[in-house]
Amino acid sequence: MNQKRIGILTSGGDCPGLNAVIRGAAKTCWRLGYDCIGFLKGYEGLYDPVQYLSLTPQNTTGILNQGGTILGSTNKGRFAATVGVHDRVNIKPELLAGVATTVRQLGLEGLICIGGDGSLAIAQQFHEYGIPVVGVPKTIDNDLSATAFTFGFDSAVACATDALDRLHTTAASHERVFVMEVMGRHAGWIALHAGVAGGADVILIPEISWTFENVCHKILEREHGGKKFTLIAVAEGAELPQGGMVGQQRDGAQAKLGGIGEIVTREIERRLLKDTRTVVLGHLQRGGAPTTFDRVLATQYGAHAVRLIIEGRLGEMICYHPPQMNSVPILKAVNRIRTVEPDGAAVQAARALGISFGDTAESANPFVARIGEVATSDDVEQDAEFALDLAEAAAEEALAD
Ligand code: F6P
Repeated sequence: MNQKRIGILTSGGDCPGLNAVIRGAAKTCWRLGYDCIGFLKGYEGLYDPVQYLSLTPQNTTGILNQGGTILGSTNKGRFAATVGVHDRVNIKPELLAGVATTVRQLGLEGLICIGGDGSLAIAQQFHEYGIPVVGVPKTIDNDLSATAFTFGFDSAVACATDALDRLHTTAASHERVFVMEVMGRHAGWIALHAGVAGGADVILIPEISWTFENVCHKILEREHGGKKFTLIAVAEGAELPQGGMVGQQRDGAQAKLGGIGEIVTREIERRLLKDTRTVVLGHLQRGGAPTTFDRVLATQYGAHAVRLIIEGRLGEMICYHPPQMNSVPILKAVNRIRTVEPDGAAVQAARALGISFGDTAESANPFVARIGEVATSDDVEQDAEFALDLAEAAAEEALAD
């Protein structure tokens, strides 16, 4: 009898925890009598040329806590299926046929595709073509519907929180404003969670419209209260008040977001003449060791993905609905992205603490607002407005000089 075999690949942008999924799946395979092979460079390794390595106890030992992926990954190339949030590209029929041949020739019972929205959209096309796949939800953006958490998110939040902790002390020492730009594409999860965990004073996310006036108002409100520094976490995908995201369009690929942090910084400096600096975390959020939470989550995803294949639940994606590991059709998971609920519990709690989302001049307390009142201090309000007028007048004067 032929040896039973399962394949695995990591696709799209890397993130901490990929190796933990690979290890979790490989170990589960061996214990159930399966060979496990890993394709190289995402979907590219599946065809022309076929590139893979046998996953063994020797080459998977010690990778649980390693960032990146031992299999390599790409978010470009022949198998890119997303060029925008809802703009899907069909994979060429000859590629699908080639992959189907590889899977048949290697005798794979199933292929575990670890990826985010775009990569899982490819897995869905494989499934529709009859290629036996299951999905594992990965992305630091945490924007996949159908799962409470993607692995990689917690590690990215830990990185951004650590950065805010560090910025806190230098901001306080120099009485500066710091604008920290984080990743997340069209979802504000990283900015929201890191902002709350790292004690940001202002959080700007794609899901909540904001204005520069309100951001400046918050800075002045803090100054009035004796806090001469302010920390602002801004998501790369947050829209500017005048509309539009900041980044570069790319042919045949998703737009490359980035740059909003510097715009916010310049505008604050212009309006308030306050020393303001930008920090762009960028790919630091995707590197390094996974957090404990991500190791546990990724390990569970790896083990349960093998279970899905063995149970014949092809075309499904493993998902985490605490405390259960469930699965849903991949199609359901890639249909729409999961964004921050503007009235959700995390936003409400942040507002209750006085964190501004740049949408109101005052730090509205949602718990009080819920019973028909808005908690504001008229004095602080008026003083802050007065200070804002003064600062703007000073800025205009300075520019006229
Ligand atoms: O989707 C993950 C992510 O890190 C986004 O947060 C970010 O916008 C994008 O990938 C960056 O992609 P690249 O590595 O191609 O610059």
